[in-house]
Amino acid sequence: MSLPAPPPELLELSGELCNRIVNNIVTDGPMGFADYMRMALYEPGLGYYVNGLHKFGPSGDFVTAPEQGGLFAKALARQFDQVGSEIGAGWTLLELGAGSGALARDLLAALDHPPARYLILDTSASLRQVQAERIAELPAWLGARVEWLSQPPEAGFDGVILANEVIDALPVSCFEVDQDKVLERCVDFTGQRLTWTQRPAPPRLDQAVGELRAQLPGCLPPGYQSEICLDLPGWLRTVTEPLRRGLALFIDYGYPRREYYHPDRRAGTLVCHYRHRAHFDPFVWPGLTDISAFVDFSLAADAGFDSGLEVAGFTSQAGFLLGIGIHDQLQQASDERDRLGLSAELKRLTLPGEMGEKFKLIALTRGLEQALNGFEGISHLHRL
Ligand SMILES: C[S@@+](CC[C@H](N)C(=O)[O-])C[C@H]1O[C@@H](n2cnc3c(N)ncnc32)[C@H](O)[C@@H]1O
Repeated sequence: MSLPAPPPELLELSGELCNRIVNNIVTDGPMGFADYMRMALYEPGLGYYVNGLHKFGPSGDFVTAPEQGGLFAKALARQFDQVGSEIGAGWTLLELGAGSGALARDLLAALDHPPARYLILDTSASLRQVQAERIAELPAWLGARVEWLSQPPEAGFDGVILANEVIDALPVSCFEVDQDKVLERCVDFTGQRLTWTQRPAPPRLDQAVGELRAQLPGCLPPGYQSEICLDLPGWLRTVTEPLRRGLALFIDYGYPRREYYHPDRRAGTLVCHYRHRAHFDPFVWPGLTDISAFVDFSLAADAGFDSGLEVAGFTSQAGFLLGIGIHDQLQQASDERDRLGLSAELKRLTLPGEMGEKFKLIALTRGLEQALNGFEGISHLHRL
């Protein structure tokens, strides 16, 4: 696929990041893909999420659900109002990876009973300024509830944790199944460019893939390539630990494990985004290209369960949005033009060929009594 070439100053930035990656490879040998992805996305000052370049919306690289308009936030607000009313006044909302801040702004505006505190935790300090500009569009009394954190809160809280398209940005390890062993797919330097290479998998990856193969007999035959997010269980435990009572909601593209590691999906799920083109070469312009992997939602469910949370719901984005009744917004449109705009947005969010089935929501709860409204209609829990 031909990609539009970046301007010289951005090529220079990417070149600087490449030099750091190559120096590490020259010194230490081939780099595990998770370490490469960590540098490509988060290397201080240079990585994709921390270099201060514009990423979100039509002029960026991708459009997430909250960037499509306000419907997604309105639907989440209904769910969170339900949880907030069960918990009572003074509840807290913690958003992980808030991106442009559009979801925070629209959620705060849409909630009938906004949280007492809206906490944002994002690895990207450079996005904080962008988020603050979105929050400044709110009435001052609402905007004043937003606080930025650099690590999960130490004190426990009751409320909601939300992460939309964050897990897909956690670094993944890539592997290939050989006849009787597991190989780690690593990044090497040929003298001219970055390239794939392989080595015997280190013990943690070897064990994790061994467990997958034992659980899914016949699903990962020799030659099968995929990836696994070894960091997910520890990360999920850390970010949900402060939640005393409430809901942790993770939204992302992904599959239950049996579908993720389906024998037909032999080349994994790694996908890169650059200027609204999806491609599969993670070595193109590191720092300028988003790199992500689909989420194994069964792994997220296991991690939640192991962290003492109840796996309270799992459904598709379409299942959630229609289950919570967001289509009634079309009847409240102010005029025909508004109605057509909302209708187009709803289609993008819910149609199976758009975001409707690819994106899923997993609801992990602690100490809640009521069933979650958005997960009552279409449940995919049995697929986990
Ligand atoms: C694909 S963007 C999604 C942004 C936003 N949630 C949305 O839906 O538009 C991923 C966001 O997660 C942040 N991020 C990545 N890894 C993170 C982590 N481990 N903890 C918190 N935020 C993270 C990035 O800086 C970025 O803001």
